[in-house]
Order: sequence, then structure tokens, then C-alpha cells
Amino acid sequence: MTVQSRIAPSLSVAFPDSALAIFDAAYPDRPVKLNHGLVGHDLLTLDALALLAERMPATSVEYNLGKLPLGVRAEDTPTNGLTLGETIRTIESNGSWAVLKNVEQDAAYAALLDAALAELEPIVARSTGPMLHREAFIFLSSPGSVTPFHMDPEHNILLQMQGEKTMTVFPAHDALTVPPEQSEHFHGGGHRNLLWSDDFAGRGTAITLYPGDAIHVPVKAPHFVQNGPAVSISLSITWRSERSVAEGELHSFNALLRRRGLPTIGVSAKPEGQWIKRLLYRVMRKLGV
Ligand SMILES: [Fe+2]
Repeated sequence: MTVQSRIAPSLSVAFPDSALAIFDAAYPDRPVKLNHGLVGHDLLTLDALALLAERMPATSVEYNLGKLPLGVRAEDTPTNGLTLGETIRTIESNGSWAVLKNVEQDAAYAALLDAALAELEPIVARSTGPMLHREAFIFLSSPGSVTPFHMDPEHNILLQMQGEKTMTVFPAHDALTVPPEQSEHFHGGGHRNLLWSDDFAGRGTAITLYPGDAIHVPVKAPHFVQNGPAVSISLSITWRSERSVAEGELHSFNALLRRRGLPTIGVSAKPEGQWIKRLLYRVMRKLGV
């Protein structure tokens, strides 16, 4: 069977019209639950993913024990002592969490990502301009696993394929959960995990995803994920925009200013319009100032 014939049946049904209308109303700032039509896709079974994982470069996979507290420092994440292939094939019982990063490196998965994003593109283009830097990630987790409190730099839709999980999403741009210094560290290459405090609990919204459900997660909206009682498989399709790139540049600019004891600048809700400061940052970076 060719790659095309394997993936063709699902190409036009990633998101039904009703989901696109809901996404349109929420993008880019509001988390929202959607539904999708990719459940049962043959590129997303456990066996297909174990084979994919084994042909991916080691730098594109990350896995560890899955029963973690909500707040974990990157250097304290415990390993599970297994190979990645073993981790995926026995994930029902090994208490682990794994992510396959940039699965678009593989042609079949690239086609799947492109097809799903093509359905969203007109909505995205109207709101935040062209879709930049498209990437896909696949998350596999054992029953009861926890993905600790963290944030991501991309516009993201997470599609639940198998099992259930509850994602608790917090507002982006909340200085209580993510102080400015944390944003600056993150954009400077710091780890995605965030410090957790029980004081944050009331600010989050818990959304449970079953197979066929999806969630739109805005750029840098902090979240943690608790897996249900079965193996969970999720596909994350992501993109950047001029807005998300501009936000990163301005926080990096602030890091540079802060290091020199200079006053930092405000990052607006539409940072793509702060082009003078972005230009200044690019010049300073180029000059190594
Ligand atoms: Fe995430």
C-alpha cells in the first residue's frame, strides 16, 4: 500500500465545519474544545508509532517515568530504564510518558500535518497571518501519567486519538503563573516546565478529552495534563505566526535589557505591531550588544 493510499481517507475530515466555526471564534487567544475525525487513522496506532519512534533521531524523542508531581524541574525528571521502542510497545504497564517530536520529518506524517493544517489555514491567515514553522508532536502516556505544569511557544491543537486525558489550561500573559523573568528565560532557550504553586489552582480550566476531541491551546497558555485510566495517544499540530515570533523577540529583548540593568519594555497583546522595538532587538543581537 502506498503512503498516499494509506492516508487519503482521512485527509478531508480532520475538522468538521462545526469545529472550524468554534475554532474561528476562539483563535488565537482562547482555549476551546473541538472535535476531529482522525480517530482510528492507521498512522496513529501504537504499532505504527513504535515503528516511527525507532526510525526517528534520538534528538527527536523524549521519554521518562510518567507518574510525576505537577511541578518538576527538568533536571529532576526520572528515566524509566527502557528503550523507546520498549516504552511504546509496553506503555500500558510501564508507567511512562513519551513524546515524538517533529514527526513531520517522516513524509507520511508530514502529509497528515499539512492536510490537517490546510483546513485551519484560512481562519489562521485572517487572524494572525501566514502559518509559519509547522510542526507535529505525538504524545503517548501510560494510565495515570502526569505532564507537569509547563507552557509551549506554538499555536497548538491537541487531538485525542486514544484514551482520555484532562488538560487544565491557564490564561496566557498572567504574571502570577509566568513572571516576566520566566518568559525571558523560556525564550532564551530555558525549559518549558514552570514552577507550580497550589495558589494557581483556581485560575485554571480543566477540559477532559476523549477520542475524537481536540483542544486549541493558545501560545504560552500554561497547562498540565493528567492521563485517565487507559493508554493515551494524542497528536499535537502546531504552527507559529508573526505574533508568536514577535512575542518571543520582545521577551528576548527584555532579557537583554534586564541583564544590562536597563528598564524593560511592555509586550502588547499584538506584539507584531511593535516593529521598532523588534528591529532594535534584531540590530542589537546582530551586533552582539
Ligand atoms: Fe504542552
